Amino acid sequence: MRILIAGAAGFIGSNYVRFVLSQHQNAQVVALDKLTYAGNPENFAAFDGDSRFEFVHADICDADAAGEALAGCDALVNFAAESHVDRSVMDPAAFVRTNVEGVRVLMEAARTHGVKRIVHVSTDEVYGHVPEGAAGEDARLAPRNPYSATKAGGELLAMSYFTSFGLPVMVTRGANTIGPHQYPEKVVPVFVTNAIEDKPLPIYGEGQAVRNYMYVADHCAGIDLVLREGEPGSVYNVGVEFEVNTVSLAMGVLELLEKPRSLMRLIDDRPGHDYRYSLNSARLEALGWQPQYTFQRALAETVQWYVDNEDWWQPIKSGSYREYYEKNYAARLAQSRPLTG
Ligand code: NAD
Ligand code: DAU
Repeated sequence: MRILIAGAAGFIGSNYVRFVLSQHQNAQVVALDKLTYAGNPENFAAFDGDSRFEFVHADICDADAAGEALAGCDALVNFAAESHVDRSVMDPAAFVRTNVEGVRVLMEAARTHGVKRIVHVSTDEVYGHVPEGAAGEDARLAPRNPYSATKAGGELLAMSYFTSFGLPVMVTRGANTIGPHQYPEKVVPVFVTNAIEDKPLPIYGEGQAVRNYMYVADHCAGIDLVLREGEPGSVYNVGVEFEVNTVSLAMGVLELLEKPRSLMRLIDDRPGHDYRYSLNSARLEALGWQPQYTFQRALAETVQWYVDNEDWWQPIKSGSYREYYEKNYAARLAQSRPLTG
């Protein structure tokens, strides 16, 4: 199978490249990425020289480049996106462009080239805040921030190519994912890298927001199973059940790194913060998927990777990232509160 993996230089995309090349000896991977601030060619440097791997530096919104890269491919897995909620609140424009228009361009190209299997990677955030129970795939979509609104738009558009044109599209909606190579803007790498440097861990609001943190290898296995066994026109949730709030997450990180709890700081909340996500993944489990990592193991392996790979994240944190960090955190940290009780 020749697979175009869009967004392959990012966190999950690069882990998926690794997953495919290690699990499927006959696979050919075309890795396409625009290399935005979140895309890092070092994430797949291990495959340089592997004859089964090639990199195309391109924007998914560029129809010519997307068409050229897709020609001759059997399958498409689209990870390419603007992916960070806080940045979407600051400036939504790039989110609309890549997460909606980029999907249209890719689907058009896939249609032109007769691609046989397509997975568009979406998110549990499209269900919005889930106060109780777990969202099944037929639950109402109620995205509440610009990132999740554009992800909902993108996946609906992708699926419209199945209903309108018979394009074999499947959509996955994954939960919060953690592991190696995650850009240090998402909560786990922010907490881990800050703790290593004895800097404060910024906790939004009262730190009671709940997420289901899933190891990236489990997410990749779910996406790959859908690519190979999923039913065209179907949506698949990919999530784990274990619920963790932000304070417990921060305490888990500090414990693993043997750092003091006094590093935890409560700061002003994220606007429109979704306090809970929860997925029912029975449809994917019926295909044979089961997560292999407990939360404790997923967090321990992730923390260890950041401890062992400072040469990956230190250059990121000292570059243009600083400007983002200042904008998102400086004023809020200046007025932060310690955790009491
Ligand atoms: P990421 O930000 O680490 O990577 C995104 C990649 O897409 C980067 O390499 C970037 O350069 C590339 N990209 C952005 N715009 C592009 C464009 N116009 N053309 C080509 N490439 C472009 O994101 P991630 O965390 O790896 O997420 C990957 C996908 O999975 C996204 O679609 C996201 O919505 C979805 N998702 C993420 C999570 C999570 O917890 N991280 C959970 C569920 C779903
Ligand atoms: O649920 C899937 C989604 O998970 C993906 O679609 C997104 O691409 C991914 O970014 C992630 O979104 P979240 O908003 O859930 O992740 P984030 O890491 O930004 O925040 C997780 C929780 O931690 C959330 O409740 C907000 C909180 N938080 C986050 C940051 C960055 C903090 O308390 N402090 C922080 O500094």
